[in-house]
Parts: sequence; C-alpha cells; structure tokens
Amino acid sequence: MIKLGISAFYHDSAACITVNGKVIAAVEEERFTEIKHDYSFPVNSIEWCLQHARVKLNQINEVHWYENPETKDNRVRTTFAKKPFKTFFLNRKYKKSKKSQDPKDILESMGYTGEIIYHDHHYSHAAFSYYTSPYDHSAILTVDGVGEWETTTISVGKGNTINKVLKVDFPNSLGMFYSTITAYLGFKPNEGEYKVMGLAPFGDISIYTDKLLSLFTTTSNKFFIDQSPFTWEYSDRVMFTRKLCKLLNLQPRLPGEEIKQEHKDLAAALQKVYEIQFTKLLKTAKNISKSDNICISGGCAYNGVANTLAYKYFKSVYVPFAPSDAGSAIGACLDSHTNITPYLGPEFTDREVKKDLNLYRDKLLIYNLDEDKLIDKTAKLINGGNIVAWFQGKMEFGARSLGNRSILANPRDPKMKDRLNYVVKQREGFRPFAPTITEEEYQKFFEASEPSPYMSRVMKTRTKFIPSATHVDGTCRVQTVSQKQNRKFHKLITLIGNQSSIPVVLNTSFNLKDETITLTPKQAIERYLKSEIDFLVINNFLIKKR
Ligand SMILES: [Fe+2]
Repeated sequence: MIKLGISAFYHDSAACITVNGKVIAAVEEERFTEIKHDYSFPVNSIEWCLQHARVKLNQINEVHWYENPETKDNRVRTTFAKKPFKTFFLNRKYKKSKKSQDPKDILESMGYTGEIIYHDHHYSHAAFSYYTSPYDHSAILTVDGVGEWETTTISVGKGNTINKVLKVDFPNSLGMFYSTITAYLGFKPNEGEYKVMGLAPFGDISIYTDKLLSLFTTTSNKFFIDQSPFTWEYSDRVMFTRKLCKLLNLQPRLPGEEIKQEHKDLAAALQKVYEIQFTKLLKTAKNISKSDNICISGGCAYNGVANTLAYKYFKSVYVPFAPSDAGSAIGACLDSHTNITPYLGPEFTDREVKKDLNLYRDKLLIYNLDEDKLIDKTAKLINGGNIVAWFQGKMEFGARSLGNRSILANPRDPKMKDRLNYVVKQREGFRPFAPTITEEEYQKFFEASEPSPYMSRVMKTRTKFIPSATHVDGTCRVQTVSQKQNRKFHKLITLIGNQSSIPVVLNTSFNLKDETITLTPKQAIERYLKSEIDFLVINNFLIKKR
C-alpha cells in the first residue's frame, strides 16, 4: 500500500510517502521554493517524494489530504453569512481562490485519478502525534488556529484507534488569540509567536493578564472568547479592533518600533493567559483519558514553555517534531504506530557535494577528512569559539534543525549569543538560542525527567556554564540527542564534552535572516560565503573561506 500525504493551502504545505505504513520520505514545500511557510500546492515536495520512493504518481494507491475541504468551506460560508456586507470582498476573493484549490482537480491535472481520502484537520494533527509516539494508550491534545471548525480537540489513543472526545470550535481559538496579540506587538502572525514567547520572561504579568483573561468565559472543560475586540470572522488582514486598544489602554506596536517595557508586559500576560487555558485543557485531557501519557500537537505545540506544564498531570509527554500543519501531511497517511525519525528529507552524496564545491573552488579551502578526524577537528573549532555550519545526511522535517542542517557554536562563551544574533542571524537580541546535549548527560545539566529529542520543551538549567543558550529566566529549549537518533551529531557533542567537560552545543537552524532552512549543498556554500560563519562542514568535507 503506497500512500501520498499532502497538506496545503493554509499554513506550511508538505508532502509525504508511506509504503505499508512506513514513512519513506517527507519534505516541506518551503525548502524548495525558499518562501517561508509556503502554503502553495506542494508540487516540488511531491515530485521529490515520488522520485525518492521510486514510484510514479499513478502508482500511488491512495492520496490522503490533511483536512476536509467541504467542512472547511461550510465554516467559511457560515461565518461570512453572519456579516455579508463586511465580508463581501473577502467572500469574492475566497470563491476565486477556492476554485483553483480543489485537490481533485489539481491531482487529476497531474495525472492522478485514484482515490483521495480527506481527513479532519485535527485528526491529522492527532494521528501524527499519537502514531509516532511510544504510547499504546494516551491522551491526545491538539491546539491550533483553526482547522475546518475545530480549534482544539481532546482524544484518547488506544492501540490503533483514536477516539475524539471533546472539541472547541471556531471562533474560539487559542491559536488565533496568540497570533492576534503577536500582531498587536508588531510581529508577523504565524511566525512571530516565537519572538513573543522569548519576550515574555522580560515582562510583568500583573499589568495585562486580567484584561486578557476578561475576554474568556470558561465552562468546566471548554473556553469561549469574546469576539468584539477581534476581526477573525470577517477580515484576513488586521486581526483586532479598536476595542482591544481600549481594553489594553495601549497602542499597537508597529513592526520595527522600539520594544518597550509595556510590550514585554503584554507578551508576559499573553503567555500567562495561554498557559492558564492550556493547563485547563491538560487537566480535562487527564480526566478523560485516565492515562499517564499525553501527545500534544497542532501549531500551538511549538509553545515549549506551555508543553512543560503537562508534567503536572502526566508522567510522559510527547510532542512530535512537526506539530504544525506540515506534519499533518504525514499524520494523514498514518493509521497505526510507526517508527519514525525527523530525518526524512533529501540527502546528497559526496560526489554531488564535490561537484558543487568545485564551482566555488577559487573562494574556498576544502579538506576531505575521514569521519573521526572531521569530528575531532569540528569539536575543537567549536570549543575554540568558531561558528560552524553543519550539513549532514537527510534534511530534517519540521521547523527545528536537529543536527543535520544546523549552525553550531559554543554556548559556554557568554558573547556567542550576541555574535550569532547580530552577525549571522540578524535577529532581535532578546531571543534565546537552544542547546543540544547528549541523552546520557542531560539530567546532570537540566531539570527534566524525560529526554526531549525534538526541542519541544523548555527545561530549567542546573548549570551556569552555558550562558549563550540560557534564557533570562534560567530555562533552555533543549534538544537531547542519542546515538540511535543521530549517530554523527551525537559523536560530535560527546567529543565537545570530552574536550570541555560540558557535552553541550548551541544549535540553531542553518539559515540566515528571513531564509528557509538550507536544503542543498549549493545553498549551504552560498549562504556560508555571504555570512560570517567561520567554517562549513558538508558530509566529511571541512570548508574554510580563502
Ligand atoms: Fe493546524
């Protein structure tokens, strides 16, 4: 049974191929088009997946679409009908785009006439998390902006079944709430939420928390959001009204404007309110499932601070490596547990790498080393204060670089955060970087009862010795890495530890400002050349600028 999974036309589009339940290949469209969060139909991703699995489109048995276009259309039409005049132009725009977004028409034009199975948006999130988790019985919580109608669901996974027990419908949406305040703070919705999360520990929660909370009505296990300060039902541009400005008694911050204390306070209050609502959902999930395990998914599961709160009710917490809509391309294909790693994308042979390196020979010094020497030398370079771009094997799926397309540096150097922030990534100075540590050692350095292979939770640090990867509140968004998960990366960090006594590396995604994560060796070389990254490693090639 060969399945092709697709997500498209909302957030991050992606494609996936499974053969007899095993995920063979998966990749996000943005990596090919270099458009961040590209949501167009993932033609490039599909083509690569087919090539990699050595099948043609007409050999696919079933296409699994990550959501249900009919139910979604029902939500959009019902919502527009509430305010027909206000939504007149938006409705026209919607009808036009809908015509060109019919999965059946598109796939037929590509030569596929087989079956297309549509899943509920939140089911795809739930399936991706539960079927890739280690649990046979688990609560499943999904939270995002909106799917068809649903914005939040709680299900119970048992064996190979997922039973949805509770749902919250649009317009009551924690994801939209978070994105709206993100926009209010002058950051881009669906992208700037990380920044707001990073800003939160600098603020005072007491200023705006009650005001934001006053917009929520809660029953024992659901929440409702007062819609009067929001435009979610009738605008696709500004997400809030003047009523929100009045309530907060604060002007919205324009992008690029100075970040003042009141902005930090609002960020803090937003995170707090999100955590309060999220904790209620966790409690409900516990009561419903009576399980010690929970899987968390949906775009909001990128909130690593909130995810950690799940330990209040659960012994074990699993967040998949791509909880957003991209991961739903995989989730849509799954109907039973599968062994999976995040390394599902393209990889390049030494021959292919050499070909690209030759194009830039006059600008580069290239050393082809054996693996032991390469890792020893790279560990020394990182410990010595160099920034190293690290490009190995199959590209990661999801928003986080997990050691195959990473920029690595020494977190023990207190100046490294600023150097990386301003010189390489050109991003706001307040944003923290993440550390990666070997699975054997993480409990010595961080307060956590379980590993975090996908950088999905924050942990309190026990050490003062990694200042460049520690946030102002003493937490780190940790990735733990085992030999089984990523042999070469694990070996590198072990060696960094042997040489320095701290087996931790600062790990940030291999891209420069506003770029998507690096896919090809050619991109890697070009980005290396135009940046101030000190060294580039691709496979076993160590590369330095001339
Ligand atoms: Fe979603």
